[in-house]
Amino acid sequence: MSITGIRGTFFDFVDDPWKHVGDEEASARFLSDGLMVVEDGIIIAFGAYGEIIDEFADIDVTHIEHRIITPGFIDGHIHFPQTRVLGAFGLQLLPWLQKWVFPEEARYADRAYAKDGAVRFFDNLLASGTTTAQVFTSTAPVCTEEFFEEATRRSMRMIAGLTGIDQNAPDYFADTADSFYENSRTLIEKYHNVGRNLYAVTPRFAFGSSPAQMERCEQLKKEYPDTWVNTHISENPHEIRGVLALHPECDDYLAVYEKYNLVGPKFSGGHAVWLSDDEFKRIHDKDASVTFCPHSNLFLGSGMFRLGKATDPEQRVRMSFGTDMGGGNRFSMLAVLDGAYKVGMINNTILDGSVDPAKMATAESERNKLSAYRAFWSITLGGAEGLYIDDRVGSFEIGKEADFVALDWTQGPPGADWHSSLIADGGDPVTMDDAANMLFGIMIVGDERAVDETWVYGSRAYKKG
Ligand code: GUN
Ligand code: ZN
Repeated sequence: MSITGIRGTFFDFVDDPWKHVGDEEASARFLSDGLMVVEDGIIIAFGAYGEIIDEFADIDVTHIEHRIITPGFIDGHIHFPQTRVLGAFGLQLLPWLQKWVFPEEARYADRAYAKDGAVRFFDNLLASGTTTAQVFTSTAPVCTEEFFEEATRRSMRMIAGLTGIDQNAPDYFADTADSFYENSRTLIEKYHNVGRNLYAVTPRFAFGSSPAQMERCEQLKKEYPDTWVNTHISENPHEIRGVLALHPECDDYLAVYEKYNLVGPKFSGGHAVWLSDDEFKRIHDKDASVTFCPHSNLFLGSGMFRLGKATDPEQRVRMSFGTDMGGGNRFSMLAVLDGAYKVGMINNTILDGSVDPAKMATAESERNKLSAYRAFWSITLGGAEGLYIDDRVGSFEIGKEADFVALDWTQGPPGADWHSSLIADGGDPVTMDDAANMLFGIMIVGDERAVDETWVYGSRAYKKG
């Protein structure tokens, strides 16, 4: 049994800031001088240092000074075997997959290659402040195994699954409905709920999984109802037309996943760019989730996610934010926030740019605005809710796993320190409002250079060199 303390300036969330328009501070918690007490990776006490230190007078305390400590970032959608695809030029989704992605992912059938890739992948996550992710692998079981083995070595909370595609992929890469089913079963038995690993049944997307493979997904979810389901939905117009041509019996993209009873709690549809109002409503009704991947949606030219629609209080959908690396061109969730903010702003020009005031959608446009509260909630507690893991991670609530990031607001590209000096007047944040301003500066002006330390399960796993 080991009990340790971390002292510093903490910022986390107790509620959804979209529920607190005009009073977002009510959704957050700020301790300018706080203490977190951790026993075997779990938070057992959290409060103002002066109020609780007497109770823990004997423990070792690490003092992290001049940093803002937030919960570890949660990436709701990322592709492990695309680590080297990052930055591939010039194509939209379907030709990009054929030219760059499938050839590279196929290399992960080689164990040594997958092992090496896993080390690099997790190093990059930690250097970006990401402590939890929902992850696509490839068609090769070896790739998924090496992923979970490395996650286990690092004690990180991860959701992942063998990523099935048995059509619209080259022969050297495609699996079959039956091999996908058998391999998924073996991997679920070996890794699901073992350590901090969680398993997601993962049909890559409805364009790539035949009806027979989708039936196998339905069967897996029935046999292992506790597993997650992770996939892509409504990302690119060519893809959507392809899906509807393959499934003429379905009125829209979501209907394909509904047909195989996959849409419900613990279902995540990545991108969700072109969902109709009715699809948003059905995702809400079924308590399923979508993932907003702004950098990828911009890089691949997929389109503009309707943040203000997803956060409509009448039909709020669960949501995480994701890099979608290598479709997204960064590992950094801070960079995702920069992209998400800009997508919201452009959405508002589209909504409100009409010269006819009757066409302006002011309620939706207010919700498109990504304040620091909404932003950091989305990549911590909100992301955890989107992935149904908010009982374990996402905030500093007692009983949760102690994953966190220490952010240095003076670090980033040239000029970031000067900007932070303006909003913080050079010193540590004194009020919650100071801290929120500094966090906004970090997400817009800064970058992953602001990530000074990343802690996993109560231990420091990364320190900036
Ligand atoms: N749809 C199916 N596979 C992929 C992928 O690897 N990346 C993205 N962005 N979309 C996909
Ligand atoms: Zn993706």
